[in-house]
Amino acid sequence: MTSVTLTGISRRFSRSCPGGNRVLKYLVLATTILTCTAVYFIYEALTFAGRADQVHAFDAAPSVSQEPEHPIEKLIIYAQAEQRRLLSKQSHNLSTAALRYQERRGRRPPPEFDAWFKYAHEHDAIVVEDFFDRIYDDLNPFWTLEPRELRRRSGPRAHEHVISVRKRKAILQTTHADPMGRMPQWHRLVEELAQWLPDVDLPVNVMDESRLLVPWEEINERVQNEAAARRVAPPSEVRTEFTGLPAIDSEPEEEPFDVHWIDSPSRNISPIDIYHDAIDMPIAYPRHSFSGYVQNWTLSKDPCQHPHLRSLHGTFIEPVSINTAQSLIPLFGGSKLRQNNDILLPPAMYLSTDELYAGRGGRGPKWSQKKAGVVWRGVASGGRNKAETWTHFHRHRYVQMLNGTAVHAAETGSLPAEGTTFKLPAQGQYGVVASGNGSLGGWLSNVTDVAFTRLECFPLPSTPADETLCSYTNPYFEVRPPIPMHAQYGFKYLPDVDGNSYSGRFRAFLHDSGSVVLKATLYDEWHDSRLMPWLHFVPFDNTYIDVYGILDFFIAAEDNGVHDKLAERIAGEGRVWANKVLRRADMALYVWRLILEFARLCDDRRDVLGWIDDLNSY
Ligand SMILES: *[C@@H]1O[C@H](CO)[C@@H](O)[C@H](O)[C@H]1NC(C)=O
Ligand SMILES: *[C@@H]1O[C@H](CO)[C@@H](O)[C@H](O)[C@H]1NC(C)=O
Ligand SMILES: *[C@@H]1O[C@H](CO)[C@@H](O)[C@H](O)[C@H]1NC(C)=O
Ligand SMILES: *[C@@H]1O[C@H](CO)[C@@H](O)[C@H](O)[C@H]1NC(C)=O
Ligand SMILES: *[C@@H]1O[C@H](CO)[C@@H](O)[C@H](O)[C@H]1NC(C)=O
Repeated sequence: MTSVTLTGISRRFSRSCPGGNRVLKYLVLATTILTCTAVYFIYEALTFAGRADQVHAFDAAPSVSQEPEHPIEKLIIYAQAEQRRLLSKQSHNLSTAALRYQERRGRRPPPEFDAWFKYAHEHDAIVVEDFFDRIYDDLNPFWTLEPRELRRRSGPRAHEHVISVRKRKAILQTTHADPMGRMPQWHRLVEELAQWLPDVDLPVNVMDESRLLVPWEEINERVQNEAAARRVAPPSEVRTEFTGLPAIDSEPEEEPFDVHWIDSPSRNISPIDIYHDAIDMPIAYPRHSFSGYVQNWTLSKDPCQHPHLRSLHGTFIEPVSINTAQSLIPLFGGSKLRQNNDILLPPAMYLSTDELYAGRGGRGPKWSQKKAGVVWRGVASGGRNKAETWTHFHRHRYVQMLNGTAVHAAETGSLPAEGTTFKLPAQGQYGVVASGNGSLGGWLSNVTDVAFTRLECFPLPSTPADETLCSYTNPYFEVRPPIPMHAQYGFKYLPDVDGNSYSGRFRAFLHDSGSVVLKATLYDEWHDSRLMPWLHFVPFDNTYIDVYGILDFFIAAEDNGVHDKLAERIAGEGRVWANKVLRRADMALYVWRLILEFARLCDDRRDVLGWIDDLNSY
């Protein structure tokens, strides 16, 4: 019975969140970090003015005013400093890259690391070891499985969709078509690199949602065991060649690994009726925020840190497809929640040239020619919304919160409770100038053009007058025609929120638009450690409570256009950076590195496999 999913998934999540008195420890730790960070802000803010000229490569726009007053200004300055710190670790040659690898990973680089670096160098890739952290976060728990077991759990006998490499050729192995055509995109990328790749089997998830949820206690233990066992093999022990899989392909037949997929996570859990409860949306500053604004992107995306999200995000209410497993098996996919154990690849959407996601590479106009407003079009996805649940869905909340008419109705108390998805921030909480008149809604109507293109009704009425409409949401949403990506680039602000999982347009927005990309998401992606919030994009909280403060800061504030210049700078930084680190070549390098590591993990000699610099064996 579907009406129990909310509790089911939440309960499941609670098991993958840190538990027991560890929660307390975690909180203490988080508070410490928060305090330290705040001190750092103040330090940065005070010392910034003197260094303003040497701050950043992107110098077309001026830097912030001398004494930052607003929390957003402080966050921007902090982000700039963080980026400088990160870039100071860039590796310009192979020996530095290998050294940085060893320092950060506690192991030798994998065999054939030199070919990887050569490609990076030839493609002008910015090599900062930290940019690859995601790979190690994803793979480390797998060091606690025996190589033989890993091979058994990753091959075509255990999975429906596998991309393999044998003798430097990429092979696509699928038992049936994947609905979204993701496999060919990933396969093509691996094919381009195959001449340099070791034998490997990559089982791929072709569904929208992430699939693996190993209980937190188990993962935590595995991660600790891996860290304890890590070492740099002495040069005399190192073997520099992968064993390869032909031998393994002819290994005596074993029972194939039978993945235990659970198709209904909420089975056996008794239902709780949440549907008619009022919206449980906290209006205080979000936890871990800096005066209400996101300061730690990782923490802001973590559902374990924000329990209210279980009734404010479609993923936890009723995902469209759900098919999870609790055992640690390798499975590669495009995005995941922090609690999932999937291994991330750059999403197939980012490799596609589909107009819907890529906008065909067309660039947006110059900043001065853009409209000082906010645009968004999308479908009412984010899960399967129903008459009893839609007010809990994040996309519905998002569209309503940026609808001036609805906000005005909320301000005057005339928005019916059964059609309300959100709460407004308390008066004065975000110091929003535009609401000084008691008319945030009126102001929003002037600056936003945010609407659904389809309401995604469930069940679809048997005789729909128009299949884009929906009886229970029609009164609250107006369906508008889609706007092509390149036309959206004519607006200065492009917010981006989750759909059924991550949103596929984020990369194109950053790479092509030249507008400020506002981003709220629960999902982790391959690029997380190479993008800096407040420098390359503007992060916002998953309740969206801070969005008015953000728009007000950039658009409404009476500041003689200073904040508009800041926005122009973020837009420019985002585009310049995306064209340096989110290119196809960068995704190729990421996947290549991931495959080297995964092939090593699956190799019986993995503890001694590595690359050694001939000149310098440290
Ligand atoms: C590599 O770069 C480092 C630091 O930039 C430099 O000290 C070193 O001499 C370079 N090594 C080679 C072989 O060029
Ligand atoms: C964000 O918080 C996490 C978890 O507490 C911490 O490990 C990380 O260093 C923080 N990041 C920043 C940029 O402060
Ligand atoms: C407040 O309302 C007045 C009159 O309607 C308008 O001119 C002014 O721009 C509004 N202030 C803001 C900040 O929107
Ligand atoms: C909206 O825009 C109109 C026309 O530019 C202006 O007269 C009006 O004051 C604006 N309303 C608010 C609330 O800012
Ligand atoms: C905005 O909200 C009003 C009031 O609920 C609603 O009638 C209208 O259709 C909404 N507009 C959009 C674009 O969803």
